[in-house]
Amino acid sequence: MWHDSVLGTIGNTPLVRINNIGTDLPCTVLGKVEFFNPGGSVKDRIGLSMIEDAEAKGDIEPGGTIIEGTSGNTGAGLAIAAIAKGYRCIFTTTDKQSQEKVDVLRGLGAEVLVCPTNVEPDDPRSYYSVARRLSEEIPNSVYLNQYDNPSNVQAHYETTGPELWEQTEGHITHFVAGAGTGGTISGTSRYLKEQNEDIEIIGVDPCGSVFHKYFHEGVFDEDEIYPYFTEGVGEDILPDNMDFDIVDDFVEVEDKAAMQMTRRLAREEGLFIGQSCGMAMAGALQWIEDHRDTLSPDDVVVVLLPDSGFRYLSKTYNDDWMRNHGFLEKKPDVTADEVLSIRQKQTDVIDASPDDALGDVIEKMTDEGISQMPVIDDDHEVVGSVTETRILNHLIENPESRKAPVRNIMGTPFPVVPASLHLEHLSAYLEEDAGAVLVDHGPDGGYSVLTKSDLISALANVGQGNGANASNGTNAS
Ligand SMILES: Cc1ncc(COP(=O)(O)O)c(C=O)c1O
Repeated sequence: MWHDSVLGTIGNTPLVRINNIGTDLPCTVLGKVEFFNPGGSVKDRIGLSMIEDAEAKGDIEPGGTIIEGTSGNTGAGLAIAAIAKGYRCIFTTTDKQSQEKVDVLRGLGAEVLVCPTNVEPDDPRSYYSVARRLSEEIPNSVYLNQYDNPSNVQAHYETTGPELWEQTEGHITHFVAGAGTGGTISGTSRYLKEQNEDIEIIGVDPCGSVFHKYFHEGVFDEDEIYPYFTEGVGEDILPDNMDFDIVDDFVEVEDKAAMQMTRRLAREEGLFIGQSCGMAMAGALQWIEDHRDTLSPDDVVVVLLPDSGFRYLSKTYNDDWMRNHGFLEKKPDVTADEVLSIRQKQTDVIDASPDDALGDVIEKMTDEGISQMPVIDDDHEVVGSVTETRILNHLIENPESRKAPVRNIMGTPFPVVPASLHLEHLSAYLEEDAGAVLVDHGPDGGYSVLTKSDLISALANVGQGNGANASNGTNAS
């Protein structure tokens, strides 16, 4: 059994139960995992249908050019369909989108023009305006305009909706999705409500977009439009394809919550998905929490997960990007020296000489209340280490060896680190099972032993003292 082209593999994506995120859920939560589409996103569904619709209307002839403004995913869907049908593609996108998305479009043979994000939609430089102008200038071209093109909604009415109804055997009770053009939520929900009008539809909007306020207050508030980082969802316009009448509720989610949920879905569920998936799931869990009393184990909440994490390797799945935008909790930045000063106890090193007798060393450890020691020779060279457990085990097996020198059983030396070493590296040394490190205070300063428990108590102290949380990164410019 084979497909005539890659187009045959679009749709029929799996539904996967969410098991680990949101413990104590009052209902079943399922993710509709759209990265299984060949172009890696839900938008493959509309690429084909918009092109075939344009052909049927005579808007494009063989060999023509497809033009579209796209955050990347629609472009991939269109490019795949255009390859199968022999069309050229020109896409406009914004400088906010991940480089990975632009690379995918170019990899699929499309020409891509990157336009500024922070201009008004009717500004001639906006990606909407540039797409429209190109379609006027290039003969035998069509601007598909996914925002207002009804075949976008129709694709979801004909595929996503029926799939969900069949996959849940009619048991779906809630459908949760983000909205960009509105095609997914409007088309899928229209089909679902026709099967059962009690199915509740919950839209999820990124803070900074207009949908949430428009839904709740009927106001298109230009003053509340501001830049946000979650890609593909939310708008600064009201697209024709966004059918507010079919939606029962709208929640909004901050970038930080969306990004963190994206990473949790990957880590805790094995779903390596994109930013708007994290946003939709964060919104779904928020809504479920707020309606806990009305939900039961028979309720089946489906959350649409639009695309793949591979589109966001340089962003959400990059620690530096996450930290720079305030989306990761910042680790408190302390040095080895500061950890020692927080410890507030004897910082001079208590050491053993390689010739010390084991019995004497164990006594010294007991007296000083320590469980490990560096072994330092007469030339002040760190030559080894001993731990209480190591000596005791040895003495139990060889009780006569109390007088034997430490050098016979000592282990490798603890790593020596500079006093200025930062926490991140310090913890890496201690994670490698070193047990302790020796902090070098320079030529006249000697060494101090720093253990895991010193680090833990220092972190507890720092955490209380100087709230180390990252600031919220939503108001980016
Ligand atoms: C990543 C991503 N998620 C969600 C959406 C929203 O889907 P729709 O345009 O059908 O509302 C888009 C649309 O571009 C998207 O790219």
